[in-house]
Amino acid sequence: MNIQELAAELEQVSIHDAQTLEQFRIRFLGSKNVLKDLYAAIKDIPNEEKRVYGQQVNGLKERAEQIYLEAKTDLGQTQKSVNQDDWSKPSEDPKVGAHHPLSLIRKEIISTFKRIGFEVSEGPEIEDDWHNFSALNFPPEHPARDMQDTFFIEKGAQEFALRTHTSSVQVRVMEQQQPPIRTISPGRVYRNEAISARAHCFFHQVEGLYIDRGVSFADLKQTLLYFAQELFGSQTQIRLRPSYFPFTEPSAEVDISCTLCASKGCNVCKYTGWLEIMGCGMVDPNVLEACGIDANQFTGFAFGMGLERIAQLKYRVTDLRLYSENDVRFLKQFKPGMA
Ligand code: PHE
Repeated sequence: MNIQELAAELEQVSIHDAQTLEQFRIRFLGSKNVLKDLYAAIKDIPNEEKRVYGQQVNGLKERAEQIYLEAKTDLGQTQKSVNQDDWSKPSEDPKVGAHHPLSLIRKEIISTFKRIGFEVSEGPEIEDDWHNFSALNFPPEHPARDMQDTFFIEKGAQEFALRTHTSSVQVRVMEQQQPPIRTISPGRVYRNEAISARAHCFFHQVEGLYIDRGVSFADLKQTLLYFAQELFGSQTQIRLRPSYFPFTEPSAEVDISCTLCASKGCNVCKYTGWLEIMGCGMVDPNVLEACGIDANQFTGFAFGMGLERIAQLKYRVTDLRLYSENDVRFLKQFKPGMA
């Protein structure tokens, strides 16, 4: 057979099972394959044609190898899918999922507070004005409502908000329960902000509330120190700076000593040695009264933090958007207890 005939045969060949695959292999690639005669004939070819002839025969051989490999892979795959019809066989390639980094952080924070007697409470993401604002001592038209750019939803004549913080859940707990109250409220919250590496229109919070007789600012500080050291290591220090929230008085921002540079100063802590992680304060007596708790008998503290911020510090992820894009290449890097 000559080169043209074999080339035509190669293009028409039909391999549909293991047997035809083996026949093909023997004919074109085996130890006595049809190309051998063509190679042997090279010595009779005139010198000036040898180069072209050799290229053509080599071309045939490469094509045969290509067809063989492709057919083999195809057949392998059909066989695999045939095996999958047999449900008693183990699966070929079980894919194991990963935990979302924010879930890992949420679970760690919850278990840290559960160890000191806190319970978990949840509530709706679509809230009324009372639970998101009014009960929390935001008077109507008060400029403090602008601190948290709110998404409003109209339903009939009534206006609802996508909750801007999970403090709304704590209002619900206080309305239903008398002190002692120790609760943390994890959940998604919404704010009308342009999406960038540093801000998003939704994020996740864990807020905490402790109300009992004689709860003091010292209790708050000690609880926050315990939390910071459990999450970021026993060397971690905290610092409180005066701040303002309508629902707490006094209020403070909480910083932890920079865990990345051991407070020596780096670009993450902007060379201050400190990282801001949450807001906190003593629950304003107006809030207690609005929720039916006697402010003459009881005092309490509250705090609230963003999970993305904590995850950012623990996992050193700088772009917030990564948490909601759900790119598996990002997600599969996270494992429980890795940071
Ligand atoms: N609710 C506040 C916020 O979302 C956080 C906070 C909670 C501050 C409790 C003080 C006390 O920003």
